[in-house]
Amino acid sequence: MRIGVLTAGGDCPGLNAVIRSVVHRAVVDRRDQVIGFEDGFKGLLEGRYRPLDINEVSGILARGGTILGSSRLERSRLREACDNAEQFRRKLSLDALIPIGGEGTLTAARMLADAGIPVVGVPKTIDNDISATDRTFGFDTAVGVATEAIDRLKTTAESHQRVMVVEVMGRHAGWIALEAGMAGGAHGICVPERPFEVDAMCKMIEDRFERGKKFAVICVAEGARPAEGSMPYERGEIDPYGHERFTGIGTRLAAELEQRLGKEARPVILGHIQRGGTPTAYDRVLATRFGWHAVEAAHRGEFGMMTSLRGTDIVMTPLADATAELKRVPQNRMDETEAVF
Ligand code: F6P
Repeated sequence: MRIGVLTAGGDCPGLNAVIRSVVHRAVVDRRDQVIGFEDGFKGLLEGRYRPLDINEVSGILARGGTILGSSRLERSRLREACDNAEQFRRKLSLDALIPIGGEGTLTAARMLADAGIPVVGVPKTIDNDISATDRTFGFDTAVGVATEAIDRLKTTAESHQRVMVVEVMGRHAGWIALEAGMAGGAHGICVPERPFEVDAMCKMIEDRFERGKKFAVICVAEGARPAEGSMPYERGEIDPYGHERFTGIGTRLAAELEQRLGKEARPVILGHIQRGGTPTAYDRVLATRFGWHAVEAAHRGEFGMMTSLRGTDIVMTPLADATAELKRVPQNRMDETEAVF
């Protein structure tokens, strides 16, 4: 078999572990040929690829980022490829294509599969918001980074009797904020799924100060928004993908708390620190299992599918299900901690 692999969308710790696993299973065990497309779908459309052998993937298991490079896709160019799918597949002599990516990439993968390209998707995102899989690799690493940040912020907050507002990633879903907030014992957690109440948060902080705990750490997801009328809020700029971006909710909330409480508050934006660097052991194992199962699915001819974690098993799920809706934090998970405002 000749298998193409690519990484698209935002990077994520564990991408290299998938690439390595695909090569190990395909080239070493099954005597397949693997080629890696550079810079995501761009490399596929432009025919930019390199053969991947065991040496190429040696030493990359623990490395963050992606050795293949990544880019956001251009839908119009992808449609062009879909229109010429068969011709395109023959030109590249591809028996299978394994795109590794988030929601946008899996949607593109589905378009290619519908156009006849033999695709097996592998989901990734630090946000953990893909509904067809219990977990995505990268999430555990991001939660670890954000938890460490909360631990560290607590000691400096306490020394200076300040409120620290740490903004974590999560545009549409608050999984990182919720789990890092719980793991780090943040006093307040704000997620996109529930508009937060600033009055209630101020009361919680005042109560803490009154009983002698003169500091607080609030963990806010970048996509969290205040409840209507709870604080002044203007919508941020809409990016080319239709997302409201860079609203700086952490900075705005810190300013609001400082003004209302008359106590020093500081924002900390973790940003891409959560996405860079070495993956945790959990993420390396999940990524490795996804890579192995993607190759096996290709050999069984199970195309138009993606690898998913169900409980402790890896199963194949239709790409259509993967992109149907985002996995958001449900009410019962928010109810498990009093810290969600
Ligand atoms: O989708 C993953 C994600 O990390 C989001 O949480 C975040 O909003 C976005 O990527 C940032 O992407 P970019 O690298 O384009 O700034």
